[in-house]
Amino acid sequence: MDIIKTLSDYHKQYEVSTSKPDEFWAEVASEFVWRKKWDKVLQWDFHKPEVKWFQGGKLNITENALDRHLPHRANQTAILWEPNDPSEAPRKISYQELHREVCKVGNMLRSHHVKKGDRVCIYMPMVPELIYAVLGCARIGAVHSVVFAGFSAGSLVDRINDCGCSVVLTADGSFRGDKKLDLKAIVDEALLQCPTVRETIVLKRTGSNSPMKSGRDFWWHEEVMSQSADCVPEMMDAEDLLFILYTSGSTGKPKGMVHTCGGYMVFIGYTFRTVFQYQDKELFWCTADIGWVTGHSYIIYGPLLAGATTLLFEGIPSWPDPGRFWQTIERHKVNIFYTAPTAIRSLEQAPISYVNKYDLSSIRILGTVGEPINEEAWHWYNKNIGKGRCPIVDTWWQTETGGIMISPIAGVTPLKPTYATLPLPGIQPTLMDEQGKEITGTGEGRLAMKFPWPSMARTIYGNHQRFRETYFSTFPGMYFTGDGCRRDAEGFYRITGRVDDIIIVSGHNMGTAEIESAVDEHPAVCESAVVGYPHDIKGQGVYTFVICYEKPSDEDKLRSEIREVVAKIIGPIAKPDKIQFVSGLPKTRSGKIMRRILRKVAEGDTSNLGDITTLLDPSVVDEIKRGALS
Ligand code: WTA
Repeated sequence: MDIIKTLSDYHKQYEVSTSKPDEFWAEVASEFVWRKKWDKVLQWDFHKPEVKWFQGGKLNITENALDRHLPHRANQTAILWEPNDPSEAPRKISYQELHREVCKVGNMLRSHHVKKGDRVCIYMPMVPELIYAVLGCARIGAVHSVVFAGFSAGSLVDRINDCGCSVVLTADGSFRGDKKLDLKAIVDEALLQCPTVRETIVLKRTGSNSPMKSGRDFWWHEEVMSQSADCVPEMMDAEDLLFILYTSGSTGKPKGMVHTCGGYMVFIGYTFRTVFQYQDKELFWCTADIGWVTGHSYIIYGPLLAGATTLLFEGIPSWPDPGRFWQTIERHKVNIFYTAPTAIRSLEQAPISYVNKYDLSSIRILGTVGEPINEEAWHWYNKNIGKGRCPIVDTWWQTETGGIMISPIAGVTPLKPTYATLPLPGIQPTLMDEQGKEITGTGEGRLAMKFPWPSMARTIYGNHQRFRETYFSTFPGMYFTGDGCRRDAEGFYRITGRVDDIIIVSGHNMGTAEIESAVDEHPAVCESAVVGYPHDIKGQGVYTFVICYEKPSDEDKLRSEIREVVAKIIGPIAKPDKIQFVSGLPKTRSGKIMRRILRKVAEGDTSNLGDITTLLDPSVVDEIKRGALS
């Protein structure tokens, strides 16, 4: 399939992708190496739901991301690694070296009896070995489940146990700015509650003195050393599992989204090349963490499938100073830069000299992902980073969608600040009203998809029922995204935010129920309710209403204890920003918390709380209003 180069190409491809989806995706897929061609492009039924792409096809995604490029790119840099500390030397890993390292890790896993279909948990810092680990799993058909290395032991336990991992790949520690995090100690704590884990393999990164449990813990460098650089790729069915990645749900435990080999490869390869208009030899930098889907799809798979050079950054944007991103762009001459609105908003706070002292002229294209970008941040990014000459692709998508769904195509389709604009070929969005009727033309409603796309999640690991209920029951016959959305007269989409009980804090999805259950673990807490509120830098902050068994004698002390409990159970990213102690919560007679009221209070808008007559005890509302934290 030719890459879209003009607006009319876009319209043509879009038309074919909807009128003849099988032909369209078959043509895209034919660029890849298939050991056996598929029998059927698509089989689907959103009522069940069931979605299968390229059934009967056989492939290995690493052959497509690595082996396929060796004849002409062996010496090209595949990964350019920028370490946490800018005084440590960057590393360049060529396609040849990457191939070798991935094969060695694949063999290492096989020597530890990991087989096709086994789940492997990866809990590692942002170092090249993390990419070797991911691709090493894919090489031998093991299912990778990467857990963000900022999560605490409790979150790790849930994720390991939910999918029954047998091996954990980790490191002694990780560097984050001037801090060191002892990852192995967190793994040790988690493994007290993870009966399925047989072994861990531990990379040395920080040199912390991790105690190693004999027979269970192995050093990475010792295990990998003697492995052969030849690793026969496991032949995978297109619909075999490639990975599981957890995302927060509005109720209950995180959901293990299941992605499969064939469709994911085809869609991620296609969207990477289309949206970013990647040109040969360019340097692409996605600043996400590999613990999130953005890192999976657009640090690892997308760029490598395209034979690109991908920059992997271990550090944080604010250390040693807030010029780190811009310094790194100058240092390596980054051409395409893809980051999150929250990073833009926080770096905007620093004096502009941190930007202006660096030469950013290598930048050709900018992107954002993860949450709506506000108009002001968009213009700052455009003016100061893009110098008014680089298209900004505001890419809307989700862990569940696997890849970019609604986005400008850089330099090809028109931009409109704060709008993700148009659906990519193959994507058929629609807006639904509260009654479940489709909205046509200009309007605002809930965003749903009418037709499958190759990289959509196939199920929630171990819980197909929950998959159906969460995504396919709100609007029968459609995939419901959980997002609110507006469409303008030109058909451009603007995502307005979640309409369920998920909040997005600094670009990270969190279920309010998950935070509440962590808060409730504090022995003084009787009940809590969490809502999001607008936060200048994080996008949304965590506002928690807490009922205690007894009136707290020292509120500030209790607040910091509650924050620590949440950091311990979920991870520091989920710590409440504001904690208001209340004696009751606004509940309906059936006992349901009226979050609408709490949201208004948290937003600081108590002038019109709407109808509160259905509350069990309307007087609690006055108390809550009086105690609201600004
Ligand atoms: C939000 C991240 C507005 C949205 C790839 C979605 C966005 C959730 C955008 C998924 C965007 C992501 N504009 N909102 N460009 N991109 N979102 O699973 O609410 O971490 O449902 O995937 O982030 O977050 P997730």
